[in-house]
Amino acid sequence: MKNILVTGGCGFIGSNFVRYWLSNHSDRIVVLDKLTYAGRRENLDDLWSDARLSLVVGDIADGDLVRRVCREQGVTTVVNFAAETHVDQSILGPLVFTDTNVRGTHVLLEVARELNLRFHHISTDEVYGHIPDGHQSVEPDSLAPRSPYSASKAAADQLVQAYFITYGLPVTITRGANNVGPYQYPEKVVPLFATNALLGEPLPVYGDGGQMRDYAHVLDHCTGIEAVLQHGRLGEVYNVGTGREMTNMEMVEIVLDTLGASRDLIRHVADRPGHDRRYSMNVDKLRALGWQPRFDPREAVAEATRWYAENRAWWEPIRSGEFRAYYERQYAERLARANS
Ligand code: NAD
Ligand code: DAU
Repeated sequence: MKNILVTGGCGFIGSNFVRYWLSNHSDRIVVLDKLTYAGRRENLDDLWSDARLSLVVGDIADGDLVRRVCREQGVTTVVNFAAETHVDQSILGPLVFTDTNVRGTHVLLEVARELNLRFHHISTDEVYGHIPDGHQSVEPDSLAPRSPYSASKAAADQLVQAYFITYGLPVTITRGANNVGPYQYPEKVVPLFATNALLGEPLPVYGDGGQMRDYAHVLDHCTGIEAVLQHGRLGEVYNVGTGREMTNMEMVEIVLDTLGASRDLIRHVADRPGHDRRYSMNVDKLRALGWQPRFDPREAVAEATRWYAENRAWWEPIRSGEFRAYYERQYAERLARANS
């Protein structure tokens, strides 16, 4: 039995991973989470009574805390989900992205080196930057991030790889595509659009909506991470996605059709600065470990949308609370000037 430190375990993917892992393994999990606006204790309310799960509220950039938790809890493995994760937030206020995603990851690596821990880092397809038609990113491709968020994630990736090369730290990295599923904070596009449609509010599509993303179900990301933790080669990077992308307009139509809502809710608004037009990853390296995705992207978007329709009690307090100020700042002027 292992003791796993899951950082960011109260966020979207982290909480889905904790739930998946406890259902399929006998290991103990310590969640270390700062509980930012995106981290919610209630995402794991069904599991806090499990004696194998505990929560430490704190910052991954606090080395003394991380060291003490790892020592006291006998941690053997770190799975690092903790991050600032929203591109639009990184455009509005970038410095915290460096604090958590770069310095925080570096602090975790230092403690892992000191205590000789297995280290798995969660990265993103955004580190490859915009991908021209006809190419799919493969793991050795060079990194070309273009937003403050993706630049901070690329810096973290390179630190993780440097710790393997320089110190022989047992590391692996997964680079995930756009995840959808339960408990995703409604700043991200699928929960934003699903909850807007459920509230009868317009859906703000950036630019022409022709941008392409691989919308992958979060459970397929969790099984991909599991495959790498169990069978991955140390020092290696693995892409995790479906390998198939769709345009944002196709995604919006799935959301609206799933809810039986009108396409009249669509508004084309001012684009995100530096918006990457296309992400696309080849996932053959992960498939070679025996993994395969269960959901195709259309099913993943539809299934995620249904979850928001069926779980209003989870998102209504978020939408009516602190989220409103961010929503006004990000969308009020865009929507006022929108084209339908
Ligand atoms: P999220 O924003 O839902 O959750 C992030 C979690 O990290 C929250 O619980 C938050 O409280 C916590 N956190 C933030 N700063 C912290 C700090 N300094 N110390 C401790 N905890 C802190 O994010 P998510 O979508 O679940 O993403 C998780 C990871 O997966 C991130 O590393 C992200 O870059 C990566 N990723 C996300 C996607 C996606 O589509 N959401 C895709 C690929 C990779
Ligand atoms: O690709 C992996 C990445 O996916 C993760 O690393 C990030 O943490 C995660 O936030 C996500 O980044 P994106 O920027 O791709 O996701 P987002 O949900 O913000 O946007 C998805 C697409 O939808 C993108 O092309 C921008 C567009 N969009 C987004 C919002 C919020 C809109 O058109 N309107 C919106 O209001």
